[in-house]
Amino acid sequence: MRHVITLWEMTTAEIERIFAISQDLKSKLQQGLREPLLAGRVAGLLFEKPSLRTRVSFETGMAQLGGSSLFLGADVGWGERESIADFTQVLSQYVDVIVCRAKTHRRVEELAEHATCPVINGLTDLAHPCQALADLFTLREVSGDLQGRTLAYVGDANNVARSLLLACAKLGVRFAIASPAGYEFDSAYVGRIKKEIPGAAVLQTRDPVEAVRAADAVYTDVWASMGQEAEKAIRSKALAGYQVNEALMKQAPAGARFLHCLPARRGEEVTDGVIDGPQSDVIQQAANRMHVQKGLLVWLLTEA
Ligand code: CP
Ligand code: NVA
Repeated sequence: MRHVITLWEMTTAEIERIFAISQDLKSKLQQGLREPLLAGRVAGLLFEKPSLRTRVSFETGMAQLGGSSLFLGADVGWGERESIADFTQVLSQYVDVIVCRAKTHRRVEELAEHATCPVINGLTDLAHPCQALADLFTLREVSGDLQGRTLAYVGDANNVARSLLLACAKLGVRFAIASPAGYEFDSAYVGRIKKEIPGAAVLQTRDPVEAVRAADAVYTDVWASMGQEAEKAIRSKALAGYQVNEALMKQAPAGARFLHCLPARRGEEVTDGVIDGPQSDVIQQAANRMHVQKGLLVWLLTEA
């Protein structure tokens, strides 16, 4: 039994296998084929924060695979009505896989410690592995072979950026990030990536133009993530020079694509002209959340 909490637990070959299953399922769906590979299986979706993409793509993905899902909000009493150990051991008796979106990363780690079924991280303050898998799958679709590509991330080195860096390092994609002081990766995280993933290429800079200069794709995310609403004003000020706009996209190579995990705060980290423009692949990227999570579920529940 395997958990997917950060992507550290997955090998490059396993990610490539998930992409192959995802590609096959996506092609079949486009031909109207929905194979019931997970017939009778149930996913429990335990969410402490709002979600459109993650929640709905897991629910529809399970349905298309012949399984079903249960959305579990605050009323199930996770960690308040009873201990996390009791809660998780009981929930594991009913469902085949738990997808969890939690306020703190530790909550998902605790679930995984007690669960007797696989746990998938559906976003924490530290990681968003399902997003990063879909992002790299999308980059491969729009740019071709991933090896040696460059992904430039402009903005807050947040949960999405952390998982993206790790996925890029594992798949041979160079990662360039431009962030202001105080909003960059902690050096221990980048140090671990460089130490444990030979060949990982990471450029860290304060200058967005330097970051995007060789980019195959430019990526950004909100300046204040869920749970950081109180810091919105201070973050907007600190990150004001890190907007992905038409002028910045002009500094990237002509064929560069634009990606964003969504939801976006238009006029803040990205302009309408970029997100709605000809270089943007954000809707295809969001659609791929479902295709790649289907691949992940099939791999986790039938192969891993
Ligand atoms: N990108 C993403 O995870 O979106 P949701 O917050 O809507 O799930
Ligand atoms: N960094 C954002 C991503 C949302 C999908 C957040 O955590 O709110």
